[in-house]
Amino acid sequence: ASVPEMLMEQIQPPLTTSGGKVSVAGVGQVGMACAFSLLTQHICSELALVDVAADKLRGEMMDLQHGLTFLRNVKIDANTDYAVTAGSRVCIVTAGARQREGESRLSLVQRNVDIFKGMIPQLVKHSPNCILLIVSNPVDILTYVAWKLSGLPKHHVIGSGTNLDSARFRFHLSQKLSVAPSSTHGWIIGEHGDSSVPVWSGVNVAGVRLRDLNPKVGTPEDPEKYDELHKDVVNSAYEIIKLKGYTSWAIGLSVASLVSSIVKNMRACYAVSVAVQNYHGIDKDVFLSLPVVLGENGVTHVIKQTLTEAEIAQLQKSANTLWDVQAGIQF
Ligand code: NAD
Ligand code: LAC
Repeated sequence: ASVPEMLMEQIQPPLTTSGGKVSVAGVGQVGMACAFSLLTQHICSELALVDVAADKLRGEMMDLQHGLTFLRNVKIDANTDYAVTAGSRVCIVTAGARQREGESRLSLVQRNVDIFKGMIPQLVKHSPNCILLIVSNPVDILTYVAWKLSGLPKHHVIGSGTNLDSARFRFHLSQKLSVAPSSTHGWIIGEHGDSSVPVWSGVNVAGVRLRDLNPKVGTPEDPEKYDELHKDVVNSAYEIIKLKGYTSWAIGLSVASLVSSIVKNMRACYAVSVAVQNYHGIDKDVFLSLPVVLGENGVTHVIKQTLTEAEIAQLQKSANTLWDVQAGIQF
């Protein structure tokens, strides 16, 4: 008899899957930051990694597996074959080109669309009931592209969107106010990145709106210059890419938080990229971030924020810009 046979009496075979499977497509800096955040926060019970780079894939898988002694017994697997992702609740897509120093997110579009054409149908073939969570840039446009390529219902395809921008905003606010980011509330909506929209009217600590204390907050006339905080948010990625070549930790943590709300059906609110046609007068079929409720079946509700005319105009402008870029994409 073998050691396991001498050690244990089998009552029934163990199940091969536990229902909490999450896949990460693309094991670059962002994919691995997502994987690490998921593991250390105990969000998934199975983790599958897929990429075209076989050696890197195997190396990353082994390195994570060797940390399992300090975590929970998550089943970690990796392969260049998409069959490894079968039965996932959530498929996170981080594969593709990233910006070089000074380059915009939109410049990546056709390169990453070409990658998505091969990848998205494979993910959906193996996990037809999954929620697709797109992170690759330009994330709003690629979420639209992923929805088109996937054949999934619109509310099952989500972009990480301005969840990250909102986190950056809350960090900067927290530094100015000396209050923890988690207690500093503020939402950034619209395009992830360059034309994002800060909703100053809602920025508050403990329900006290900064606008009620300083009606000029967030405007160019504000002597306290709160509007600089949004400029810092827009410049964040450019600055980090200049300094370290890529961004990874904050996006990894923000994605893990979204996945947690989905797999645990938490119904938490996040600003993520969703289909926005007919919201706030947007008449284009594009994806942009609005606050939504996220549960096991993806987006269940869009929060109807009260926005100013200027905020609505900015959202519509972003929608028109994205629509023009989408029109030039070769599927
Ligand atoms: P990276 O270069 O470190 O990793 C990209 C990975 O994609 C590599 O492992 C590569 O092998 C893989 N890949 C390339 N083609 C593939 C294919 N056809 N199939 C499977 N895998 C493939 O890049 P990164 O720093 O991890 O960034 C990844 C993407 O995430 C970029 O588009 C970047 O702009 C984006 N990003 C988005 C956000 C956000 O907030 N939405 C934040 C940071 C980065
Ligand atoms: C970000 C990426 C580059 O960190 O979109 O904002």
